[in-house]
Amino acid sequence: MLRLDSAEYAKRRRSLMDLMSPNSIAIIPSAPVTVRNRDVEHPFRQDSDFYYLSGFAEEHSVVVLIPGRDHGEYVLFCQEKIKEQEIWTGRRVGPEAAPEVLGCDDAFPISDIDDILPGLIEGKDRIYASLGVSPEFDRQLMQWVNHIKTQVRNGATPPHEFSALDHLLHELRLIKSPAEIEVMQAAADISAEAHTRAMQVVRPGMKEYQLEAELMHIFMAAGSRWPAYPSIVGAGDNACILHYTRNDDTISDGDLILIDAGCELDYYASDITRTFPANGIFSDAQRKMYQLVLDAQYAAIEAVKPGNHWNQPHEAAVRVLTEGLVKYGLLQGDVDELIEALAYRQFYMHKTGHWLGMDVHDVGEYRIDGQWRVLEPGMVMTVEPGLYIAPDDESVEPQWRGIGIRIEDDVVVTEGGCHVLTSAVVKDVADIEALMSA
Ligand code: GLY
Ligand code: MN
Ligand code: MN
Repeated sequence: MLRLDSAEYAKRRRSLMDLMSPNSIAIIPSAPVTVRNRDVEHPFRQDSDFYYLSGFAEEHSVVVLIPGRDHGEYVLFCQEKIKEQEIWTGRRVGPEAAPEVLGCDDAFPISDIDDILPGLIEGKDRIYASLGVSPEFDRQLMQWVNHIKTQVRNGATPPHEFSALDHLLHELRLIKSPAEIEVMQAAADISAEAHTRAMQVVRPGMKEYQLEAELMHIFMAAGSRWPAYPSIVGAGDNACILHYTRNDDTISDGDLILIDAGCELDYYASDITRTFPANGIFSDAQRKMYQLVLDAQYAAIEAVKPGNHWNQPHEAAVRVLTEGLVKYGLLQGDVDELIEALAYRQFYMHKTGHWLGMDVHDVGEYRIDGQWRVLEPGMVMTVEPGLYIAPDDESVEPQWRGIGIRIEDDVVVTEGGCHVLTSAVVKDVADIEALMSA
C-alpha cells in the first residue's frame, strides 16, 4: 500500500515553519464532523491542510506549529484514549502514543485545549490560521485570544496580527513532491481501470447508477476507500448538465454517456472524464463533435509546459473549439471575433482545468499580481474541454442537439513539458470503439 513516510510530513512542517514570520504560531483544526440526518453522520474525511501536515486522520484534533519553541515545535491536541468511548466510535491514537506514532513533540487531550493553547499563543506576535472556514473554529480562536487579553494587567501580551495560513501552506501544496506524484499516478491508474471497465460493461437498458456501481467496485477493490467527488454518469441529454449526479436515468441505445469519476487514494484525488456511445459506435454527428473536443484537448495538453501560463491551455482549447463550431455551422462569423466575443460559451461554459491534489479542485493561486501564473514542474492540473449542446437549442441543426461531451485527463508539469497521468484509459474514437466491441 502506498503511503507517504513520516519524513515527508516532517519536511512539510519544516517548510511551512521556515516561511512563517519570527515569533509566530500556526493553528490548524481537523475537519468538522457533520450530521447527515438524526444520529447518522457523513463519512469523516480529514481536512486536507490538517492531513498534509500531520498524516493524522482523527476528528476532534488540532495541530499547532510554533517555530523555534524550546520544548518542541509541533504540538498536537487529540482525543484521549477512553475505552468506553472507543467501544462506540473506534480506536484512537491518544496523546500518550501520539509523539511516537505521529512525530509530534508534545500531545495533549483535546478536552484541555482551552487551558493550554492560550498559554502557547501568549507572547506570540502573529497567529496563522484559516479564518472564515469554520465559524466554530473562528469563535474558539477569538476565545483563546480574548482569554489572553483578560490577563494583560498581569503582563500577558496578546498577538496583534492574524495572517491567512492558506497563502503559505497552499503554495507548498501546489508543488507536488515525487512521492506525491507517485500516489497520484496510482490513483489515476485505478480510475483509468474503472473507466475502461465502464466502457466494457455498458449496455442500453442499464441505469446510470448501475454503471456507477461498476466504477465504485473497481475503486474499492483496487484500494481506494471512496471517490474524490460524487461520480457523474450522464446518458443522453443528461451529459449536458455539468454537475449531474442523480445518475438515475435509464441508458438508451444511441446515447452518448459522459462519466466524470475519479478515486481518492491516500488523500490524493484523480479526476477523469470519458464520453462514449452506449451501443459502442459513435453516430456521425457524435463522432464529429467528439473529435472536435478531442482535438481541443490535445491542443490544450500541448500547451502544458513550464514557462507557459495557466490560461494558455484554455486559450488553445477555445481556439480549436471555436474553429470547429464555425466549420460545422454551430457558430457563424470570424473565429477571432467569435473568441473575443466569448461566443463559444453557448456550448463551452467552463474553464479547461483546475489544480489537482489532495482536493479535486486543489489549492493554489491561479493568478499572481493580477497575471496568470506561470506553470512550473510539479504542478498537477486537469485538462478537460467539453461541448454541451442544449437539447432545446434551436439555433443549431437538430442533429447536434442534446450532445454533451467532456474529455478530462490529469497532467503533471515536468521539466520538459508534461506527463499525462491518466493515459491508461483510451480516448481516441477508434480505440474506444475497438475496446467496446471486444
Ligand atoms: N469532477 C469535477 C471536475 O471535473 O472539475
Ligand atoms: Mn476536473
Ligand atoms: Mn472531473
